[in-house]
Amino acid sequence: MALIIDGRKISQQIRDEVRDQVAAYKAQGKEITLAVVQVGEDSASTVYVRNKQKACEYTGIRSIKIALPASITQEDLLAEVDRLNRDEAVNGILVQLPLPKGLDANAVIRAIDPLKDVDGFHPQSVGALSIGLPGFVSCTPAGIIQLLKRSGIEIEGKECVIVGRSNIVGKPMAMLMLRENATVTVCHTRTRDLKEVTRRADILIAAVGRAKMFTADYIREGAVVIDCGMDRDENGKLCGDVDFSDCEPRCAAITPVPGGVGPMTVAMLMQNCLDSVRIQAR
Ligand code: GUN
Repeated sequence: MALIIDGRKISQQIRDEVRDQVAAYKAQGKEITLAVVQVGEDSASTVYVRNKQKACEYTGIRSIKIALPASITQEDLLAEVDRLNRDEAVNGILVQLPLPKGLDANAVIRAIDPLKDVDGFHPQSVGALSIGLPGFVSCTPAGIIQLLKRSGIEIEGKECVIVGRSNIVGKPMAMLMLRENATVTVCHTRTRDLKEVTRRADILIAAVGRAKMFTADYIREGAVVIDCGMDRDENGKLCGDVDFSDCEPRCAAITPVPGGVGPMTVAMLMQNCLDSVRIQAR
């Protein structure tokens, strides 16, 4: 029987820790503010933004939502980001992605003040992570490190295989696992004999976005399996990249979907908002 890593419980612990520290700042007269920018009315984005605002309410972080029309020009959107950069009452800025067609997300990310980049997407944040300087770290990979550490899973010296090389998960995950002294391999669609590589993993991190792709034959007996997938199975039911019922008996520990990695992302956003105060004080 594998340990089922409970992301809901661990994310709740983190939100409670953040809430206590936010209260301590408040007692010193310091308020923390997150500005969430949503452009257009994509329904999934609306749900994500609402969840972020709810987490802010819980932790005592002030959130302001800036809803902009999908028809906004790149120039006006950049002007809005600039306004938030200059607003001293704003600690964190998050522009919900994806942006509507015609808008350049990379340019918008680059426009965010790196000292307020609570998503950790700015090239300066990414660069700082890769050379071991302080800065904001992308929330999902940061959350995975917390899932492992708080479940008592040692990382140092372990073979870690990451499948997926996105800027938001795969690449920052590789940097974080290196920082924790794992031996890291990053696989992707062009990897030859993927199974041969994933079967070497002590810690396997699946971040490909393909429903139940990883079956037991991809997994080494006794591995720790982290599933970043948010997919739909053949019946339209939410599932991960990992075929949970097939893999679980082979694993030492595994994250479920839902209730594994998912809840950690918002918890780490709250942690980044809290850390922004320290980062901005330097
Ligand atoms: N869209 C999906 N996930 C994210 C995220 O973590 N941050 C932002 N800004 N947009 C997203």
